[in-house]
Amino acid sequence: MRQSWPSLLLSTLWTLLLLVNLGSAKNDGRHHVKEFTLNITSIQHNPDCSNYTGNVLALNGLIPGPPIIVTKGDRVQVTVFNNLTPHTPSENVTAEEDMTSHASIHFHGIRQYGSTEADGVPFLTQIPIAPGGFYVYDFKVTNQAGTYLYHAHVGMQEMSVYGAVVVYESEEADPAQRAKLLLSESESTKQHNQLKAYGSSYDDERTIVLSEWWHRDRVEFEQYLLGPTFNGIWEAESILLNGKTVYQPIQVNPDACRGYEIIPVQKNKTYRIRVIGATAFRTLGFAIANHNLTIIEVDGEPVLPYVTSFLEVASGQRFSVLITTDQDPTDYSIGTNRRWTDGTVPATSNGYAVLRYQDNISEAAKSASPSPKRRSLWSRKLNNNTPTKSDAVLKVPKGSFVFPPETIGWIWDKLTPFYGAYHETRRPADRTIVLRSTDEKLSDGSTRWFVNGISFKDPARNYLSQVLNETRAELVAMEDEEPEYANGYDPKSGMYPVRQHEIVDFVLQSTHTATLPCRSHPWHTHGHSHWEISYGAGDYSHDEHGALRSDHPVHRDVTLVYPSTSQNYTASNPPPADGSIGCGWSKIRIFTDNPGIWALHCHNTAHMFMGMMVAIEEAPELIRETDTIHSHD
Ligand SMILES: *[C@@H]1O[C@H](CO)[C@@H](O)[C@H](O)[C@H]1NC(C)=O
Ligand SMILES: *[C@@H]1O[C@H](CO)[C@@H](O)[C@H](O)[C@H]1NC(C)=O
Ligand SMILES: *[C@@H]1O[C@H](CO)[C@@H](O)[C@H](O)[C@H]1NC(C)=O
Ligand SMILES: *[C@@H]1O[C@H](CO)[C@@H](O)[C@H](O)[C@H]1NC(C)=O
Ligand SMILES: *[C@@H]1O[C@H](CO)[C@@H](O)[C@H](O)[C@H]1NC(C)=O
Ligand SMILES: *[C@@H]1O[C@H](CO)[C@@H](O)[C@H](O)[C@H]1NC(C)=O
Ligand SMILES: *[C@@H]1O[C@H](CO)[C@@H](O)[C@H](O)[C@H]1NC(C)=O
Ligand SMILES: *[C@@H]1O[C@H](CO)[C@@H](O)[C@H](O)[C@H]1NC(C)=O
Repeated sequence: MRQSWPSLLLSTLWTLLLLVNLGSAKNDGRHHVKEFTLNITSIQHNPDCSNYTGNVLALNGLIPGPPIIVTKGDRVQVTVFNNLTPHTPSENVTAEEDMTSHASIHFHGIRQYGSTEADGVPFLTQIPIAPGGFYVYDFKVTNQAGTYLYHAHVGMQEMSVYGAVVVYESEEADPAQRAKLLLSESESTKQHNQLKAYGSSYDDERTIVLSEWWHRDRVEFEQYLLGPTFNGIWEAESILLNGKTVYQPIQVNPDACRGYEIIPVQKNKTYRIRVIGATAFRTLGFAIANHNLTIIEVDGEPVLPYVTSFLEVASGQRFSVLITTDQDPTDYSIGTNRRWTDGTVPATSNGYAVLRYQDNISEAAKSASPSPKRRSLWSRKLNNNTPTKSDAVLKVPKGSFVFPPETIGWIWDKLTPFYGAYHETRRPADRTIVLRSTDEKLSDGSTRWFVNGISFKDPARNYLSQVLNETRAELVAMEDEEPEYANGYDPKSGMYPVRQHEIVDFVLQSTHTATLPCRSHPWHTHGHSHWEISYGAGDYSHDEHGALRSDHPVHRDVTLVYPSTSQNYTASNPPPADGSIGCGWSKIRIFTDNPGIWALHCHNTAHMFMGMMVAIEEAPELIRETDTIHSHD
């Protein structure tokens, strides 16, 4: 039965009153239903102890927002309230067009099988939530587990609107379940109660969210990116780890600074550290002084253990690594650097945190942090660390690490899926679609990114409701031979249509002009994980590069296309006439098993905002049939 708007609002408010802030669990007969509430508001914030306090968007008053922690098989309902005040539109923009205070949340890496309307992409899957409104993201995580994130998907809002999503593989991998077990077990059996995931055992886990902090206003940033004065993306002043760092340690007022994030550990144990790339721009190096990192998961995909001294974390990527606390018990620095910056900014970063062996700190400080047993199941924090003020660390602790030089492809070829190679990666593709990205200055002096000559713009109406409503141009049968599908693009719908159960390769072709450096681009697939089956320098050529390169690529949802030129142009060897020079490509593959409207875009948020995105229309005739759990407009 359809509820009237006031009664729906009332019942929603009732539900909220019944919840203890962050989350609650119930059962819908088939799944555990876990409910969360995220409120978008504006707060005054200074996370890096600098002299800049910004007025920024936050979730439930927090940056990062509260973690969403669920178990594989759960149904998840996240109610997002937009509690922003409407933005005063500028001269030539109507209140409806002005999206500055509208919002949506994307659950990055969650494949949204049968729930494309919960994917959070403005005008692809929903109309952004207006100030005063709300939207219920309702989805199941039945077939995936690991480390994910959520973030805003409108404009540059994800500069401050992001948080961790953790999907436990099983009850055995959930520390809270383990804590309950520990309560009921004798001392003698406790030591056998390790957490387990993909053949690895560990004693506990921690999460580290990497992000950026600009000493700039978001709306000003958005106007700059689209305006005529654009001259490169502004570099963030700080790199944050779990929302904290120290901008300039020399200038800090110790009474007003929370210092670096402290990650507490105990000696002689193994920890799973989930590292989440919630940056909007840079690819970051990540390392822990004196500790190697054993990668066991990438983007929710289990991999065979691989030992490395550092991670390279592109925007939107996630890793789980194991560390063993076998060093002298003291504080160690956790550090980051900027990678693939074209040499235009220093690689050094002020993003640090502290790995603290707790055995070394006073008993008093130890008892200040709550024991895991006393933590309730749903009011969870990421890490069990509430340092007292006197604990705040304002200086980077001991330990040095060197970030090795950048290498095209990093270690990606060396990673192997835990469950073995996928047969989809060994078959020929049904179709190969080349997406060639260019940036161009327009006649009004502004700059846009284009993919195959089209700079993505929000459609006038939400694509998904057009498809569900059957009011958009008739769904024509897809014929590759038809000229209107040149390179797979359908100008009638503005999308790239794909059939169900196809193997589709996308060649992500980077270009630059001879006067500008080649940039790196972290491409993200919605609704699917993909395999990077090949990559190379310069321009892709189907005859030369059509063959598969890797025989065991991992299934992930972000691929960094590395800048990689194949030729040096000179006066006697001039670049191509159109001025755009191929400077590196990756070929990624999806298997189209998830009908829906899916974004495929550069996860450098400024690039996406400037048009570097396409929409995939996958088996639209099946979207309604598979959409079983959602009913609201
Ligand atoms: C979120 O916003 C709603 C609606 O404005 C309000 O009723 C609720 O108390 C807020 N919840 C939190 C956790 O701030
Ligand atoms: C803030 O600090 C920067 C250097 O970190 C300095 O250039 C600037 O003048 C300071 N601004 C104020 C208002 O103190
Ligand atoms: C609004 O449009 C007019 C006419 O096109 C133009 O002259 C003016 O500069 C625009 N204002 C803004 C703020 O873009
Ligand atoms: C560390 O663990 C090993 C094996 O469990 C044990 O033999 C050793 O004594 C432990 N060392 C410390 C310092 O606790
Ligand atoms: C890290 O691994 C390398 C290679 O296996 C090894 O040489 C090095 O000693 C290890 N470092 C630490 C701190 O364990
Ligand atoms: C830990 O102990 C070592 C010596 O055992 C000491 O040098 C170091 O400062 C201590 N660290 C902390 C954080 O107390
Ligand atoms: C569906 O189409 C009708 C008729 O064009 C229109 O009035 C209605 O708003 C559409 N609904 C949605 C959800 O787009
Ligand atoms: C281009 O020139 C640089 C500097 O001379 C050289 O290091 C590089 O190998 C050249 N690249 C190619 C593809 O020829």
